[in-house]
Amino acid sequence: MNRLQLSDLDEAARRLIDHAASARANAHAPYSGFTVGAALRCAKGNLFLGCNIENSSYGLTMCAERVALFAARTAGARDFEAMAVVGPGLETSPTPPCGACRQVIWDLAPEIDIYLATPDGSVEIWKPEDLLPEPFGPSQLTGHEDETP
Ligand code: THU
Repeated sequence: MNRLQLSDLDEAARRLIDHAASARANAHAPYSGFTVGAALRCAKGNLFLGCNIENSSYGLTMCAERVALFAARTAGARDFEAMAVVGPGLETSPTPPCGACRQVIWDLAPEIDIYLATPDGSVEIWKPEDLLPEPFGPSQLTGHEDETP
C-alpha cells in the first residue's frame, strides 16, 4: 500500500475520487445508512460508476465496487486501470472493499490501482494482490473442465 496526499495525485486520480464521491449520493442504503460510491477508469479514460444498492432481503445487497465492475463489463470495457472507493469514511476512516468485492476485483481487474480516500486528506493506493493474499482465481480452474462427473 502506498499513501499519498490528495494534492500529490495526478488530475486523473483526483477526478476518479470526485466521481466516486458523486456516485455515493445515488446509493440506496436505507438499511445500513452506509453509502458508498465507486468509480472505475479504463485505459482510454472512460469511467464507470457504481453505488451500493441494498435490498429488503439483505443478502441481495450489491456493493458499489461490483456495480461499477459489472456495468463496465456489460458495456464491453476490459482495460481497467484504476478504481476509487469513497464511503462515509471520508469523515472517519477509509472504506476498503469487502471480501466478495476483493474476489471479483481479482478475477476481473487484477492489475488496477485502488484509491481509498482517507479522512486526513491522504489517499491509500492498493493493488488487488495485497487486498487478497493467496487468492483463489481463474488459474486454479485451468485444466479442470473435463472433470465434471
Ligand atoms: N459496501 C460497499 O458498497 N462497498 C464496500 O466496500 C463495503 C460495503 C456496502 C454494502 C452495504 O450496502 C453497506 O456498504 C454496509 O455494509
